[in-house]
Formats: sequence, C-alpha cells, structure tokens
Amino acid sequence: MRKKENRQVPNQTQTSDFGLQTSDLGLQTSDLGLQTSDLGLYTVEVADLTKRFGDFIAVDGVTFSIRSGEIFGFLGPNGAGKTTTIRMLLGLLRPSSGRASVLGFDVVRQPEEIRRHIGYMSQRFSLYQDLTVGENLDFYGRTYGVRGARLRQRKRFVVEMAGLEGRERELTRNLSGGWKQRLALGTAILHEPQMLFLDEPTAGVDPISRRAFWDLLYQLAEGGTTILVTTHYMDEAEHCQDLAFIHGGRIIAQGSPAEIKLHEMKGQVLEIDCDRPETAIGVLRQIDGLDEVALYGALIHVVGKDVAKRCVAIEQALAKASIQIQAMDVIAPSLEDVFIARVRR
Ligand SMILES: Nc1ncnc2c1ncn2[C@@H]1O[C@H](COP(=O)(O)OP(=O)(O)O)[C@@H](O)[C@H]1O
Ligand SMILES: [Mg+2]
Repeated sequence: MRKKENRQVPNQTQTSDFGLQTSDLGLQTSDLGLQTSDLGLYTVEVADLTKRFGDFIAVDGVTFSIRSGEIFGFLGPNGAGKTTTIRMLLGLLRPSSGRASVLGFDVVRQPEEIRRHIGYMSQRFSLYQDLTVGENLDFYGRTYGVRGARLRQRKRFVVEMAGLEGRERELTRNLSGGWKQRLALGTAILHEPQMLFLDEPTAGVDPISRRAFWDLLYQLAEGGTTILVTTHYMDEAEHCQDLAFIHGGRIIAQGSPAEIKLHEMKGQVLEIDCDRPETAIGVLRQIDGLDEVALYGALIHVVGKDVAKRCVAIEQALAKASIQIQAMDVIAPSLEDVFIARVRR
C-alpha cells in the first residue's frame, strides 16, 4: 500500500484519538502495531480487483487506495474499465476476484451500507427531464431518506451551491449542460455522503462550466468529502491529489500528478512549433533514438532519453524537408505526455 505525506488530513479517526501525535513519541504508526487503514486514513481500498465478462477481462487485477478527503482522479481512454471498477465499488457488480472496501464496508458483503453513505453521479446524469429542478431534488432527497426540515435545508444548500436560485420551477430538460451537471451533483450530495463517485461528470460540458464544477468539488473536498472522479481531460487530472491511469483494465501508473511526471516519464520532452506539423511528424519519426513523436494541437512533442542532445539532428532533418522552425524548447512533461509514453511502452 502506498503511504506518503498527507496533504489533507482526514477528520475521521486518527492517531490524535490517542490524545497524542505519533510524532510526539518519535514513533511511526507501524511501531504501534497499527495499519494506516485502522486509522481511517483510507476511504477506499482495492486489492487485485478483477472483473471478467465471459472470456473478456474488463478489469484486470487493479490495486489502489484513496485517502480520506482527497480528490482521486481515475483516468483512461474509453473502454479502459473505469465504469466497471466504479460499479464494483458501489456494490452494483460482483467482482470476479479480488477485494475492495469503501468507507470500511466490503463491496460484496455490505453493498447497502456503501450505497447509504456515498453519492453517485453516473456517466449519463440520471435526472428526470420532465421534472422541475425542485422536483428532482425532492425525488432524490426522498430516495436517500432525507425528509422534512432537513430536506428543505439541504435543498437550499444545494440550490445555492449550484447557483440555481430562482430556477427551482424550471423544467430540467430546459437547463443547459452546465446547469444539469451541477443539479446532478446536487442530487448526489443531498444526504451529505462521506464519499462521492463521479463518472465523467464534465464530459461534453463547456470549459467555463467545467471550471465552476471543479470549484464545487474543491469545496466539497475541503469539507471532508472523499471524491473519485473519472475524466478524459488532462487539465482536470492535474487538479487531483492522486491519480490512477487505467488502460486495458490495468493500472499503468499511479501517484500524485507531480510524482507521476517525475517517476513515470523516462525521457525529456521537446516541444517544437513549426510549419506543416503533420509533415514534420513524418520526418521526425525517421530519426533514430526518439521514443515518441506526437501532435498536441499545432505543436509537436518529441520524447526521448537525451532529446536535448538530438536538437541538431532534428533541425537538420526539418531543414532538409524545408520545414521552418518557429520555436523549439525542452519542456516539463504534461500528464498527457506521460500517459502516451506509458501506453506505448
Ligand atoms: N456488462 C458487460 N458485458 C460485457 N462487456 C462489458 C460489460 N460492461 C462493460 N464491458 C466492457 O468492458 C470494458 C470496460 O468498459 P467500461 O468499464 O465501461 O470502460 P470505461 O468506463 O473506462 O469507458 C469495455 O470493453 C466494455 O465494452
Ligand atoms: Mg465509463
């Protein structure tokens, strides 16, 4: 299990329950004969979790843990196994093998407990389009057992949080994507869950709404809610405290964004701004000793062990093809560079 410095200390059971900090004793938690999991440090623990559909292995022995109160990003292309993993964690789908617990509850033996304590926003927001905003909130509130004064108070909170004041009587179908998304988040948190599962909550939503949505996620995490979020957007991945990249059902990299970039990227990244980038890519791929050449918008990223030392060869090759270079710099790798490099390896 990964143990490392904790940016956001959970306000659940901790060493401080002993009335002292382990550091006061000059001890490690392990010296007390305790596992960190006994201390409530991890909200989700997954070990060797596997799901087979017939002969097909959709999730292939994944292992990860999510610290309490953190935003954990679960990344990967379509079909990688993200939704299947989430469905197993929610107790909706039985694992073929392996173990997982959420909030200390076992996914196979205690699925009802899990569902009572978590909020879930599925890939296609499950809102009733022909109900108003207020009616959707009432419906989900009652589903989660929130009633009376508490429901009224929670609805007020959610409406304010989502910026939906004055729109309670509007039909959900008439809301734009960003509003629907914030309403769907609102329905998922009416019962104040300790943990949220968000499956591609920002897919197809405009950038401004995406930013507003992430601000809400930060607020929730600051309030102590643990969040697992899947996304395709690498800029969103940078906002997570920890990440796991899943590809073909397997986790191929995990850690904080900074750790992943530091440890998983075996080469340097050279960014080239030049004419006719599509042609340039073909030219660059003929050069020996470069691991990866990929296009990011109109810019080319070249990845290799000593890419900086290959600059002369690169310039000559591009010049020979009459391609003009506007700029060429060694840059810090983005998560996307890391991801592509790992997938190809
Ligand atoms: N009920 C199912 N029966 C058979 N195959 C499935 C089922 N659910 C998902 N899959 C397959 O498992 C793989 C992973 O799917 P999924 O977890 O939805 O991926 P993601 O959410 O990362 O896009 C895909 O190839 C998908 O077609
Ligand atoms: Mg999915």
